[in-house]
Amino acid sequence: MKANNTKGYTFIVSLSGLSLILFLTIHLCINILVVMDKSAYNQATYFMQHNLVAQTTENVLALGFLVHIVLTSHKAISDLRNKKNGDNKKLASKDMLIMGGLIICFLTMHLIQFWSKANMNMLQTKVNGVVMNDTYTFVSELFTSSPFYCIAYIATGIVLGLHMRNGFQSALSSSQSEKTQLNKNIQLVSSGIGFFFMIGFSSIPLFFLLKKWLFL
Ligand code: HEM
Repeated sequence: MKANNTKGYTFIVSLSGLSLILFLTIHLCINILVVMDKSAYNQATYFMQHNLVAQTTENVLALGFLVHIVLTSHKAISDLRNKKNGDNKKLASKDMLIMGGLIICFLTMHLIQFWSKANMNMLQTKVNGVVMNDTYTFVSELFTSSPFYCIAYIATGIVLGLHMRNGFQSALSSSQSEKTQLNKNIQLVSSGIGFFFMIGFSSIPLFFLLKKWLFL
Protein backbone atom coordinates (compact mmCIF):
# COMPACT_ATOMS: atom_id res chain seq x y z
CA MET A 1 0.00 0.00 0.00
CA LYS A 2 2.78 2.37 1.00
CA ALA A 3 4.75 1.42 -2.14
CA ASN A 4 1.65 2.22 -4.23
CA ASN A 5 1.33 5.61 -2.53
CA THR A 6 4.98 6.37 -3.21
CA LYS A 7 4.58 5.34 -6.85
CA GLY A 8 1.44 7.47 -7.20
CA TYR A 9 3.20 10.44 -5.60
CA THR A 10 6.26 10.07 -7.86
CA PHE A 11 3.99 9.82 -10.91
CA ILE A 12 2.09 13.02 -10.06
CA VAL A 13 5.26 14.93 -9.18
CA SER A 14 6.86 13.81 -12.48
CA LEU A 15 3.76 14.69 -14.50
CA SER A 16 3.43 18.11 -12.87
CA GLY A 17 7.20 18.63 -13.34
CA LEU A 18 6.74 17.86 -17.02
CA SER A 19 3.98 20.49 -17.31
CA LEU A 20 6.26 22.97 -15.58
CA ILE A 21 9.02 22.33 -18.14
CA LEU A 22 6.55 22.54 -21.04
CA PHE A 23 5.07 25.76 -19.69
CA LEU A 24 8.51 27.34 -19.27
CA THR A 25 9.67 26.16 -22.72
CA ILE A 26 6.62 27.70 -24.43
CA HIS A 27 6.93 30.84 -22.28
CA LEU A 28 10.60 31.23 -23.16
CA CYS A 29 10.06 30.60 -26.90
CA ILE A 30 7.37 33.31 -27.01
CA ASN A 31 9.20 35.84 -24.86
CA ILE A 32 12.54 35.50 -26.62
CA LEU A 33 10.76 37.04 -29.65
CA VAL A 34 10.75 40.35 -27.76
CA VAL A 35 14.47 40.77 -28.50
CA MET A 36 13.98 39.83 -32.17
CA ASP A 37 10.88 41.38 -33.67
CA LYS A 38 8.25 43.73 -32.25
CA SER A 39 5.28 42.63 -34.37
CA ALA A 40 6.12 38.92 -34.13
CA TYR A 41 6.15 39.27 -30.32
CA ASN A 42 2.85 41.17 -30.25
CA GLN A 43 1.26 38.63 -32.58
CA ALA A 44 2.52 35.69 -30.49
CA THR A 45 1.18 37.14 -27.22
CA TYR A 46 -2.10 38.03 -28.96
CA PHE A 47 -2.37 34.43 -30.18
CA MET A 48 -1.72 33.07 -26.68
CA GLN A 49 -4.37 35.39 -25.23
CA HIS A 50 -7.06 34.67 -27.85
CA ASN A 51 -6.67 31.12 -29.17
CA LEU A 52 -8.82 28.66 -27.21
CA VAL A 53 -6.44 25.69 -27.65
CA ALA A 54 -3.40 27.79 -26.65
CA GLN A 55 -5.25 29.22 -23.65
CA THR A 56 -6.51 25.82 -22.46
CA THR A 57 -3.03 24.28 -22.85
CA GLU A 58 -1.50 27.19 -20.97
CA ASN A 59 -4.05 26.93 -18.15
CA VAL A 60 -3.60 23.15 -17.79
CA LEU A 61 0.19 23.56 -17.72
CA ALA A 62 -0.08 26.42 -15.22
CA LEU A 63 -2.23 24.16 -13.01
CA GLY A 64 0.52 21.50 -13.21
CA PHE A 65 2.97 24.24 -12.23
CA LEU A 66 0.89 24.94 -9.09
CA VAL A 67 0.51 21.23 -8.19
CA HIS A 68 4.29 20.84 -8.56
CA ILE A 69 4.99 23.78 -6.22
CA VAL A 70 2.61 22.44 -3.54
CA LEU A 71 3.78 18.80 -3.67
CA THR A 72 7.52 19.46 -3.84
CA SER A 73 7.48 22.12 -1.09
CA HIS A 74 5.58 19.73 1.14
CA LYS A 75 8.12 16.95 0.44
CA ALA A 76 11.13 19.28 0.95
CA ILE A 77 9.73 20.51 4.30
CA SER A 78 9.10 16.97 5.55
CA ASP A 79 12.61 15.91 4.37
CA LEU A 80 14.03 18.74 6.44
CA ARG A 81 11.99 17.72 9.48
CA ASN A 82 12.78 14.03 9.13
CA LYS A 83 15.71 13.32 11.43
CA LYS A 84 16.41 10.02 9.67
CA ASN A 85 17.67 11.73 6.51
CA GLY A 86 21.36 12.14 5.83
CA ASP A 87 22.87 15.64 6.09
CA ASN A 88 23.37 15.98 2.33
CA LYS A 89 19.74 15.34 1.58
CA LYS A 90 18.66 17.86 4.21
CA LEU A 91 21.03 20.43 2.73
CA ALA A 92 19.73 19.75 -0.78
CA SER A 93 16.09 20.13 0.36
CA LYS A 94 16.93 23.38 2.12
CA ASP A 95 18.61 24.81 -1.00
CA MET A 96 15.70 23.76 -3.19
CA LEU A 97 13.21 25.25 -0.74
CA ILE A 98 15.04 28.60 -0.62
CA MET A 99 15.32 28.74 -4.42
CA GLY A 100 11.66 27.72 -4.80
CA GLY A 101 10.67 30.48 -2.32
CA LEU A 102 12.60 33.08 -4.34
CA ILE A 103 10.90 31.90 -7.55
CA ILE A 104 7.48 32.20 -5.88
CA CYS A 105 8.33 35.78 -4.74
CA PHE A 106 9.32 36.58 -8.34
CA LEU A 107 6.14 35.00 -9.71
CA THR A 108 3.96 37.09 -7.38
CA MET A 109 5.66 40.29 -8.63
CA HIS A 110 5.55 39.08 -12.24
CA LEU A 111 1.85 38.22 -12.25
CA ILE A 112 0.89 41.49 -10.56
CA GLN A 113 2.91 43.39 -13.20
CA PHE A 114 1.51 41.59 -16.19
CA TRP A 115 -2.02 40.74 -15.24
CA SER A 116 -3.03 44.07 -13.70
CA LYS A 117 -1.42 46.26 -16.37
CA ALA A 118 -2.12 43.92 -19.28
CA ASN A 119 -5.81 43.97 -18.58
CA MET A 120 -6.14 47.64 -17.67
CA ASN A 121 -4.03 50.22 -19.39
CA MET A 122 -1.82 48.61 -22.00
CA LEU A 123 -1.22 50.57 -25.21
CA GLN A 124 -2.87 49.20 -28.35
CA THR A 125 -1.22 48.59 -31.69
CA LYS A 126 -2.33 47.39 -35.14
CA VAL A 127 -0.59 44.43 -36.82
CA ASN A 128 -1.85 43.31 -40.25
CA GLY A 129 -5.10 45.18 -39.61
CA VAL A 130 -5.73 43.53 -36.21
CA VAL A 131 -5.88 45.74 -33.11
CA MET A 132 -4.02 44.14 -30.19
CA ASN A 133 -2.22 44.88 -26.91
CA ASP A 134 1.24 46.37 -27.47
CA THR A 135 2.90 43.89 -25.11
CA TYR A 136 6.29 44.65 -26.72
CA THR A 137 6.20 48.30 -25.60
CA PHE A 138 5.02 47.25 -22.17
CA VAL A 139 7.88 44.74 -21.69
CA SER A 140 10.58 46.97 -23.19
CA GLU A 141 9.46 49.96 -21.06
CA LEU A 142 9.43 47.78 -17.96
CA PHE A 143 13.05 46.77 -18.52
CA THR A 144 14.40 50.10 -19.78
CA SER A 145 12.66 52.09 -17.03
CA SER A 146 14.15 50.22 -14.10
CA PRO A 147 17.51 48.49 -13.60
CA PHE A 148 15.93 46.96 -10.46
CA TYR A 149 13.47 44.93 -12.56
CA CYS A 150 16.26 43.88 -14.93
CA ILE A 151 18.38 42.68 -12.03
CA ALA A 152 15.42 40.90 -10.40
CA TYR A 153 14.61 39.11 -13.70
CA ILE A 154 18.27 38.21 -14.36
CA ALA A 155 18.66 36.88 -10.80
CA THR A 156 15.47 34.83 -11.21
CA GLY A 157 16.77 33.38 -14.48
CA ILE A 158 19.91 32.23 -12.66
CA VAL A 159 18.03 30.81 -9.65
CA LEU A 160 15.51 29.10 -11.94
CA GLY A 161 18.32 27.48 -13.95
CA LEU A 162 20.03 26.16 -10.80
CA HIS A 163 16.72 24.99 -9.37
CA MET A 164 15.89 23.09 -12.56
CA ARG A 165 19.35 21.54 -12.75
CA ASN A 166 19.06 20.22 -9.19
CA GLY A 167 15.45 19.13 -9.70
CA PHE A 168 16.29 17.20 -12.85
CA GLN A 169 19.32 15.63 -11.23
CA SER A 170 17.35 14.36 -8.27
CA ALA A 171 14.42 13.18 -10.44
CA LEU A 172 16.65 11.22 -12.81
CA SER A 173 19.31 9.93 -10.42
CA SER A 174 19.24 6.37 -9.24
CA SER A 175 19.57 5.77 -5.52
CA GLN A 176 23.17 4.57 -5.89
CA SER A 177 25.71 7.09 -4.69
CA GLU A 178 28.57 5.75 -6.88
CA LYS A 179 29.69 7.88 -9.79
CA THR A 180 28.57 5.59 -12.60
CA GLN A 181 28.64 6.64 -16.25
CA LEU A 182 24.82 6.93 -16.09
CA ASN A 183 25.03 9.35 -13.18
CA LYS A 184 27.62 11.42 -15.05
CA ASN A 185 25.33 11.57 -18.09
CA ILE A 186 22.41 12.59 -15.87
CA GLN A 187 24.51 15.39 -14.41
CA LEU A 188 25.43 16.56 -17.89
CA VAL A 189 21.83 16.52 -19.16
CA SER A 190 20.54 18.28 -16.00
CA SER A 191 23.21 20.98 -16.26
CA GLY A 192 22.39 21.47 -19.96
CA ILE A 193 18.68 21.94 -19.23
CA GLY A 194 19.35 24.28 -16.29
CA PHE A 195 21.80 26.30 -18.39
CA PHE A 196 19.31 26.59 -21.26
CA PHE A 197 16.61 28.17 -19.06
CA MET A 198 19.16 30.28 -17.15
CA ILE A 199 20.61 31.84 -20.31
CA GLY A 200 17.23 32.02 -22.05
CA PHE A 201 15.35 33.95 -19.36
CA SER A 202 18.30 36.11 -18.23
CA SER A 203 19.20 37.17 -21.75
CA ILE A 204 15.90 39.06 -22.22
CA PRO A 205 16.34 41.70 -19.43
CA LEU A 206 20.10 41.73 -20.12
CA PHE A 207 19.40 42.66 -23.75
CA PHE A 208 17.32 45.69 -22.71
CA LEU A 209 19.82 46.70 -20.03
CA LEU A 210 22.73 46.63 -22.52
CA LYS A 211 20.64 48.38 -25.16
CA LYS A 212 20.00 51.22 -22.71
CA TRP A 213 23.59 51.43 -21.45
CA LEU A 214 25.06 51.37 -24.95
CA PHE A 215 22.39 53.83 -26.23
CA LEU A 216 21.34 51.48 -29.05
C1 HEM B 1 12.32 37.78 -19.16
C2 HEM B 1 11.51 36.93 -18.73
C3 HEM B 1 10.01 36.96 -18.85
C4 HEM B 1 9.16 37.75 -19.62
C5 HEM B 1 9.52 38.85 -20.61
C6 HEM B 1 7.80 37.32 -19.31
C7 HEM B 1 6.65 37.87 -19.86
C8 HEM B 1 5.36 37.51 -19.52
C9 HEM B 1 4.17 38.12 -20.07
C10 HEM B 1 4.14 39.23 -21.14
C11 HEM B 1 3.09 37.54 -19.46
C12 HEM B 1 1.61 37.88 -19.70
C13 HEM B 1 1.11 37.02 -20.82
C14 HEM B 1 -0.32 37.30 -21.17
O1 HEM B 1 -0.88 38.33 -20.75
O2 HEM B 1 -0.87 36.49 -21.90
C15 HEM B 1 3.60 36.54 -18.54
C16 HEM B 1 2.83 35.70 -17.76
C17 HEM B 1 3.31 34.69 -16.96
N1 HEM B 1 4.63 34.41 -16.71
FE1 HEM B 1 6.24 35.34 -17.54
N2 HEM B 1 7.86 36.29 -18.39
C18 HEM B 1 9.19 36.05 -18.09
C19 HEM B 1 9.68 35.10 -17.20
C20 HEM B 1 8.91 34.21 -16.47
C21 HEM B 1 9.43 33.20 -15.59
C22 HEM B 1 10.92 32.97 -15.30
C23 HEM B 1 8.35 32.52 -15.08
C24 HEM B 1 8.31 31.37 -14.11
C25 HEM B 1 9.19 31.15 -13.17
C26 HEM B 1 7.15 33.12 -15.64
C27 HEM B 1 5.86 32.71 -15.37
C28 HEM B 1 4.72 33.31 -15.86
C29 HEM B 1 3.36 32.89 -15.53
C30 HEM B 1 2.98 31.70 -14.61
C31 HEM B 1 2.50 33.74 -16.24
C32 HEM B 1 0.95 33.69 -16.21
C33 HEM B 1 0.44 32.75 -17.24
C34 HEM B 1 0.42 33.43 -18.58
O3 HEM B 1 -0.34 34.38 -18.76
O4 HEM B 1 1.18 33.00 -19.48
N3 HEM B 1 7.53 34.14 -16.49
N4 HEM B 1 4.98 36.54 -18.60
